[in-house]
Amino acid sequence: MSSYKIKKTIGDTSWLVHDRFGMFIHFGIYALPARSEWIKTMEKIPQSKYDIYFNHFNPDMFDARDWARKAKEAGMKYAILTTKHHDGFCLFDSKYTDYCVTNTPFKRDIVKEYVEAFREAGLKIGLYYSVIDWHHPHFAIDGIHPLRDDPNAEALDKGRDMKIYAKYMRNQVTELLTNYGKIDVLWYDFSYSTPDYVRFLAFDKGNPPPRPYPLPWMQHGGTKGPEVLESETLMELTRRLQPGIIVNNRLGIPGDTSTPEQTTLTDWPKDKITGEKLVWEGCHTFSGSWGYFRDETTWKTPKMLIDLLIKAVAFGGNLLMNVGPTSRGCFDPRADDSLKVYANWMKYNSRSIYGCTMADSEFTATQGTLLTQSEDGRRLYIHILDYPFKKLYFKGLDCKIEYTQFLNDGSEVLYTSDGKGGVYFELPIKPPFEINPVIEIFLK
Ligand code: GLC
Repeated sequence: MSSYKIKKTIGDTSWLVHDRFGMFIHFGIYALPARSEWIKTMEKIPQSKYDIYFNHFNPDMFDARDWARKAKEAGMKYAILTTKHHDGFCLFDSKYTDYCVTNTPFKRDIVKEYVEAFREAGLKIGLYYSVIDWHHPHFAIDGIHPLRDDPNAEALDKGRDMKIYAKYMRNQVTELLTNYGKIDVLWYDFSYSTPDYVRFLAFDKGNPPPRPYPLPWMQHGGTKGPEVLESETLMELTRRLQPGIIVNNRLGIPGDTSTPEQTTLTDWPKDKITGEKLVWEGCHTFSGSWGYFRDETTWKTPKMLIDLLIKAVAFGGNLLMNVGPTSRGCFDPRADDSLKVYANWMKYNSRSIYGCTMADSEFTATQGTLLTQSEDGRRLYIHILDYPFKKLYFKGLDCKIEYTQFLNDGSEVLYTSDGKGGVYFELPIKPPFEINPVIEIFLK
């Protein structure tokens, strides 16, 4: 068994640390402007103008079963869908606001169809819920709010009561955790406790120079920390409504999972006090945007996509890879192509991902490789990210190998001992698999 001491979680993360790979889906009316899910505040779009997207939201090609099929084919075992992002638009039927999908031309409850389709496909169900809400009349105006520079901002903020907003969130989370059956993950986003952070996020930096956010009249110092969000109460409600549900760490209080974003790690994150290893999940985008962004061109290469998955599991974590559907409700061809990259690699190599974790410390990855190991300790996987010429040396493996093969085609990999505890694997000139071939080692 894996020798690592993992910090206990309240939510049931046993399936999460086995399944390793999930689909994040950022979908909402921001898909119409198609210039990022933050567009409302980046361009300080007044509600009257932003409403055009609400009035034209009609994803006629939306087919949750098609989304679920593609996620499953890609090897993803769970999914997280945005039910409400920072603009406050709800993809579900809520009795606490009219700002929801059932009042758009589309009329249908997208969360309902997503839950049913992904559950039918056998995937675990996650819901994303943003604690930011640039539509709600009681969400206090701060340094990242679209109204931050409105000449009447201070007057507009008067009377806004975050207690009323915190209650609104609890009411909506009750709807989400009551009306859609078993929910496996609640993925909260974006509490912030420091005004500097808020100032950094102000999109006016440079032109003109950023204003000194938070402005003196901004409530709670322009922050949205766990106190004003009443995060403890929200967390308790979440766990009470869905016992065993996994809750992340973005309410500003400890959760079950750590959620590094758009970054790769070089070690397994630990609890700062106990040193125990954390259950963690890195989230990434295919391109540079979470929501559909037509003109964003930094789409990751096929190798970068596979590297991200291996780099997560090699350090004991998960990869949550994001798709931003278009306003027609389908994945754009670039996202489809990226999912096919995962589908092809996972078809032959998923045994080195599912049920695997960071290799025991007795094994040291040779440069250009990363290791994963089965939870039962019986199988070690060498992921060759930088394919060498003819030979791959590995110290400390001699006399520990029962048998070894390339995972993709099950062909034997021959090796010789160096007489000092190491081995030289004999590799074909041409990599046996297009991206990151994997050597599977059955340990004695
Ligand atoms: C960041 C983005 C937000 C996105 C989230 C996903 O917080 O600002 O739009 O939903 O990452 O982790």
